[in-house]
Amino acid sequence: MDDNRIALIKEEIKHYNIHTFNDLEKFRIKFLGRKQGLINILLKNIKNIPIENKKIYGKIINGLKKKVQEKIKNFCSNNYLNVSKMVDIDPTIPGKFSEIGSMHPLSIIKYKIIDMFMNIGYSYVDGLEIEDDWHNFTALNIPVSHPSRDIQDTFFLCKDKSILLRTHTSSVQIRYMKNHIPPFRVLSIGKVYRNETISSRSNFMFHQAEGFYIDKKVSFSDLKQTVHYLIHSLFGKVKIRFRPSYFPFTVPSAEIDILYNNDWLEIMGCGMIDPIVLKNVDINSEIYTGFAFGVGIERLALMIYNLKDIRIYFENDIRFLKQFTSEF
Ligand code: DAH
Repeated sequence: MDDNRIALIKEEIKHYNIHTFNDLEKFRIKFLGRKQGLINILLKNIKNIPIENKKIYGKIINGLKKKVQEKIKNFCSNNYLNVSKMVDIDPTIPGKFSEIGSMHPLSIIKYKIIDMFMNIGYSYVDGLEIEDDWHNFTALNIPVSHPSRDIQDTFFLCKDKSILLRTHTSSVQIRYMKNHIPPFRVLSIGKVYRNETISSRSNFMFHQAEGFYIDKKVSFSDLKQTVHYLIHSLFGKVKIRFRPSYFPFTVPSAEIDILYNNDWLEIMGCGMIDPIVLKNVDINSEIYTGFAFGVGIERLALMIYNLKDIRIYFENDIRFLKQFTSEF
């Protein structure tokens, strides 16, 4: 073992002058370079060392290697800020973060419902927000004199009230059924309008989801199963109640309540599509039957996110909006 040589290398490491990153790189190559690095050359030499000295020789060389690495590390940490001068960056400036957006709570629920119904073979369609009287009312068995027109007062776009902002998504049923031959299963979600004062529970605009299914032999039990599927997917295992009700375009009709914090809360309407409506869109009710349902998205979101006031959806308060993730 060449003690002298090792001692010399040790001294050289100790006194090597490193002032710049260029010096550092030269230093690194001189000692740790893969081919010509002094440490590697010493290591390669290990095969010529008598067996009884191999262990101690290895230890000494590893010690040298450590010294080189320490010196490199020290230089780097002492000169950390100087890096900036060489590569023209200031590492002390905080990084730039781009804001990651989040989805609006109503959109989260909308897409969740779309997903659920795609999974059971429904098609998704968009309807029109500006409708005519026939699609929004008359074809749905709500003639001009019908009292439910009062509850669904809206914004009319012409004096004779023939063009209006739709009051519900049920108008999509008419538009779709008129242009398609059964069987079909369809979902549509969108904005609807009512001439109502804004309060914590009502607004002049809100969102509804509408689903309908027409085929031979569609029965009330198919409707029931679909309602259970919708509600259980959104709320988990909750109690569901079908309460007899009335809608002009379904017979029989039901309102669905769920047991929520020990109260029965009404969340949606549904029923078997009235043969009069089928006749209005030229579907033979002797052959085909169908069901429909309609549900307000704001109301669902209030319950899912435990909110009290529907005005919060449209205040655009970023602190509120950025809390939502698409998992719930
Ligand atoms: N269109 C009704 C409303 O806005 C909701 C509704 C009830 C839709 C029963 C339906 C249904 O499709 O079958 O109040």
